[in-house]
Amino acid sequence: MIDKINTLLEEVKAFEAKTMEEAEVFRVRMLSKKGAIPALFQEFKSVPPADRKAVGQQLNQLKQAATEKVNTIKTRLETEASSRQPGKKRPDLTMPANFSPIGSRHPLSVIRNRINNIFEKIGFVISEGPEIEDDWHNFSALNFPEDHPARDMQDTFFVEKDPDIALRTHTSSVQVRVMETQQPPIRTISPGRVFRNEAISARAHCIFHQVEGLYIDQDVSFADMKQCLLYFAREMFGEKTQIRLRPSFFPFTEPSAEMDVSCSLCDSKGCSICKYSGWIEIMGCGMVDPNVLENCGIDSKQYTGYAFGMGIERIAMIIYHIKDLRMFFENDLRFLRQFESAM
Ligand code: PHE
Repeated sequence: MIDKINTLLEEVKAFEAKTMEEAEVFRVRMLSKKGAIPALFQEFKSVPPADRKAVGQQLNQLKQAATEKVNTIKTRLETEASSRQPGKKRPDLTMPANFSPIGSRHPLSVIRNRINNIFEKIGFVISEGPEIEDDWHNFSALNFPEDHPARDMQDTFFVEKDPDIALRTHTSSVQVRVMETQQPPIRTISPGRVFRNEAISARAHCIFHQVEGLYIDQDVSFADMKQCLLYFAREMFGEKTQIRLRPSFFPFTEPSAEMDVSCSLCDSKGCSICKYSGWIEIMGCGMVDPNVLENCGIDSKQYTGYAFGMGIERIAMIIYHIKDLRMFFENDLRFLRQFESAM
C-alpha cells in the first residue's frame, strides 16, 4: 500500500494544469468520493494494526498534498483569468492617485518661525527654558519689588507657595538663565509659551506665546535697540513700516518703552485694526536695568544691553487679520486649513 501512496504522491507533485477543466478532472480523479485517495482510505481499514501509524501518516500527507495542489492551481487560474479582462480587477495605472490631505503648520508656529528667522539673520541665537519657574527667575532677578502686582495671585498661576513655584508669566525668565550662565556678548531670543491668570476674551487668554530678545555687550545704546527693532518691523510688516517708541515702565528695563508700528492694513489712514489711530502696539522694550545685570553676575559698569518682548498671537492677528485670539486655541480645522500653504 505504501507503494501505491508514493506513486500517487509523485503524480500529485508533478501535476500541472492549464485550464480549470484539467484541474477539475484531476480533483475528481484524486479526491472525489470515488477517487483514488478515498479508495485508499477504504483499503486502510485492512492494514494490520502494527503498520497503521506509518501508513496513516503517509495517507494523510497525500490527501493534504492533493488538496493544496488543486487549490493553488485553481486560485492561480482564477486570478490570471480576471486580470485578462480589462476594467475588472486589473488596476488602471493611468488613474490619478488618491491624495491624502497634508497637514499644515499652526499659524502661531508660522509666525514664531518668521520672527526667529528675522533675528537669526542678525546673529541672535534661540534659547529655551522651563515653563514652570521659581520666583527668582520669573520675578526677583528681574527686579520686581516684593509687592509688585504681577506677583499677585490674580496674575500668576502658582504651583506651590513658599518657596514660590509658578507657571512663567513671560520668557524673560529664560534670559535670566542665559545671563547667569554666559558672559557678554549675548544675543539671544527666547520664544515660548507663557501663562497669566486673565479672563479669556477676544483680546486676552490665560495661555499665550512670546518671543523675547536680549542683547548685551559693551557700549550698547538705546539707538542700537531702535535700529534693531526698526529692522525687525520692516522685515515683518513690509519695508515702508514706521516705528514709534512711547515711554513706559517695566521693572527690569530703564528707560522702558512701548513700540508701535504704523498700520500696514490702512497705510496709517485709520481702520478698525489700529482703532483709527494709524498705529498698532506690538511690544515692550528698554535698556536692561543695571540691577538685573548685577543679579545675574554681569558687571553693569562694563556692559549695557537692551531687551524686548512681544506676543506672537498679536503679531499673527495683525498679519492674518484675525479678530479673535481664541481662534488660535480652538483647533477648528476650518480655521487651521487656511494656513496650509504657509511655511
Ligand atoms: N517681559 C515683558 C512682558 O512680558 C516684555 C518686555 C520684555 C518688556 C523686555 C521690556 C523688555 O510683558
